Amino acid sequence: MPWSRRRSSESGRAWTGLAALVVLLHAGCGGDGPSTPTPSSPSPSAPTATQVEPLKDAAAGTVRLVGAAVEASLLRNDATYASAFAHHFNYVTAEYEMKWAQIERQQGQRDYGPADEIVAFATARGIAVKGHTLLWHSSTPGWFEALSTTEARRAVEDQIRTTVGRYRGRVAAWDVVNEAIGDSGLRDTVYLRKLGPTYIAEAFRIAHEADPEALLIYNDYGGEGLGRKSDDIYALVQGLARQGVPIGGVGLQMHLDAASRPATADIATNVRRLSELGLLVNFSEMDVRIARLPGAASTRLEEQRRVYHDVVAVCVAEPRCVGVTFWGFTDAHSWIDQSFGPDDPLLFDDTYRAKPAYYGVLDALRRR
Ligand code: XIL
Repeated sequence: MPWSRRRSSESGRAWTGLAALVVLLHAGCGGDGPSTPTPSSPSPSAPTATQVEPLKDAAAGTVRLVGAAVEASLLRNDATYASAFAHHFNYVTAEYEMKWAQIERQQGQRDYGPADEIVAFATARGIAVKGHTLLWHSSTPGWFEALSTTEARRAVEDQIRTTVGRYRGRVAAWDVVNEAIGDSGLRDTVYLRKLGPTYIAEAFRIAHEADPEALLIYNDYGGEGLGRKSDDIYALVQGLARQGVPIGGVGLQMHLDAASRPATADIATNVRRLSELGLLVNFSEMDVRIARLPGAASTRLEEQRRVYHDVVAVCVAEPRCVGVTFWGFTDAHSWIDQSFGPDDPLLFDDTYRAKPAYYGVLDALRRR
């Protein structure tokens, strides 16, 4: 195990749990070999997702988690989707079923049905689960806005205690707070307005009480490389760690646009400095948009392959980078189309054929 057990901090202990799981997940897989020839664009004859090498097997040599965000309804109703997911991934994040606004639409009435389905699917297959996300300004129940400060503090505590408590021992890590940094310091959210800046530290403390073994993560976007937002995220988590807040990790979302993305070297430098704080890093929601790239489809898909390869390779090279999660895995189901316009951001095309992007990830996991 490359990580020292010296650290008895939160990330040390929570990580030991997660690491043990990773090793368990990878037992018996592995081996290197020549780089994988890449079909230019997935021709109709390209192999499908369950016909190619599982990414989790390729990750065995790196003791990394390879994950994807999933939707409960697709796992339940779409066998092709479910088998492709189970074939490749050993880590799962609920795309929206564990978000507060989804769970507690009416105050006091919680529906964990879809979230339970995802946890059950994963547990039955030895797939590790990351809970996403306990506090996010973009998924806060509507009724929260009308609460007084005291009521709001109690509601947040109930949400975290109940949700983390429910999945204690079954969810290995939690995105406790998501996207609390804006373009210039703390984002102006309903939590900041009602509870003040200490709401972040408070959320971590409550989550830790509810499950002392879970790895607790701060998650955000736009701070993957270097720059103002990356510095603000660094300052936030450094401050939390120095206060002894039980934060164990940082999630860099990695929603990238291949036409304007952070430099690979900057991502590596950022991951290293976060690691030096004793924190664990994960790439938590990776997808790569190519619609704005010039040139033919094959050229754009080749560039996408390069981006996936180079970014995943940063995680493989960084001892304290625990894994990469893709925000979906087939272009048939991606939030990008609704949020950024039609695109093909993921590893398999909308007929589940392996894209060059898949081979980019495979080679990076195989250190090629
Ligand atoms: C997105 C989901 O993919 C969409 O289905 C949903 O409508 C909105 O949220 N950052 C996050 C994720 O942390 O939770 C978001 O997921 C994408 C951006």
